[in-house]
Amino acid sequence: MKRLLRSLGGEAVWPPPVWLMRQAGRYLPEYRAVRAGVPDFVALCTTPELAAEVTLQPIRRYGFDAAILFSDILMLPWALGHGLEFQQGEGPVLPKLRDEAAVAALDPARVAERVQPIMETVRRVRAGLVAEGFDDTTLIGFAGAPFTVACYMIEGGGSKDFATVRGMAYAQPALFRRLMDTLTDATIDYLTAQVIAGAEALMLFDSWAGVLSASMFREHVIASATRIVAALRARHPKIRLIGFPRLAGVLVGEYAATGVDGVGIDTGSDIGMAAAMLPARVAVQGNLDPLAVVAGGAAMTAEAAGILAAVRGRPFIFNLGHGIVPETPPEHVAALLEIVRAG
Ligand code: CP3
Repeated sequence: MKRLLRSLGGEAVWPPPVWLMRQAGRYLPEYRAVRAGVPDFVALCTTPELAAEVTLQPIRRYGFDAAILFSDILMLPWALGHGLEFQQGEGPVLPKLRDEAAVAALDPARVAERVQPIMETVRRVRAGLVAEGFDDTTLIGFAGAPFTVACYMIEGGGSKDFATVRGMAYAQPALFRRLMDTLTDATIDYLTAQVIAGAEALMLFDSWAGVLSASMFREHVIASATRIVAALRARHPKIRLIGFPRLAGVLVGEYAATGVDGVGIDTGSDIGMAAAMLPARVAVQGNLDPLAVVAGGAAMTAEAAGILAAVRGRPFIFNLGHGIVPETPPEHVAALLEIVRAG
């Protein structure tokens, strides 16, 4: 079995499997070269030949244990018919979803067809990994978790604290619930389609889970992930799932109740303490500071060694605590891999 899938099966594989969030991206010159020819980011995500190519770029360069589908968490709202634009240097811009009419306008019936190019990317990457001899590289599919996707849809883009979103969850609970239910159902279908197309593991990105109060975290992060995991397992009993409830803090232990096989840990958490809160069968994934990889050298070595020491002997997947940043020197990633592979 592939090393990453063994870790997700509860085995303490050592040296640990390694991949990096946002491993395909602007820090790589070969990504920038493809991107220069496709000014529209959504077009890049919906052109299977190019999306498959950029998915494979970091695998060819570094031989990571996982390839993650090149797409974006905001492609699901796009497929639901909610607008999406990426403006140069500004991040995503979406219409602000604020009322019942906007939720009613979302069209789950169109999703299957609109995500077809993304499923074609999954098929191409899976075939490409075999054709290029990456027999031990696992293909990870993904979706944004409903709460984080709702954050961008309600706010209309990024935010420091998503105050509008939290305000709506308290003041208009029925509206917020309806949006969450629509997104949860659509996420189940979207991830199921990725498994059918060839994804071997799935990751649920809940980047803003930590802005919620504990009770709201239980209601909107844990409950929706639990539904998604149960539905995926009912359809595909062997599928492996990783959840990433970013900034969950002391609630990370409760997240195991969702039934995931692995939990992503963010940079600000002590990975040993987080691991101690999780059942021994659950793989922990993380959590090197992306800025340590920008710095490289002794600082990066010490941080990586601290993580390895804290999780040795348990199922673990080496990763960053958040996405790699564009300023990262590619040679620092190569140096990091040597450290991890030396165990
Ligand atoms: O990890 C990978 O390599 C796979 C592809 C992937 C992307 N985004 C590509 C991308 C994945 C898994 C994501 C997840 C994602 N997207 C998240 C969750 C993880 C996290 O970072 O918290 C979020 C919140 C988004 C939404 C998003 N997409 C934002 C806020 C931005 C703008 C910020 C930025 O870095 O430019 C994006 C754009 C985006 N998604 C880029 C990439 C490579 C940069 C686009 C470019 O090439 O210009």
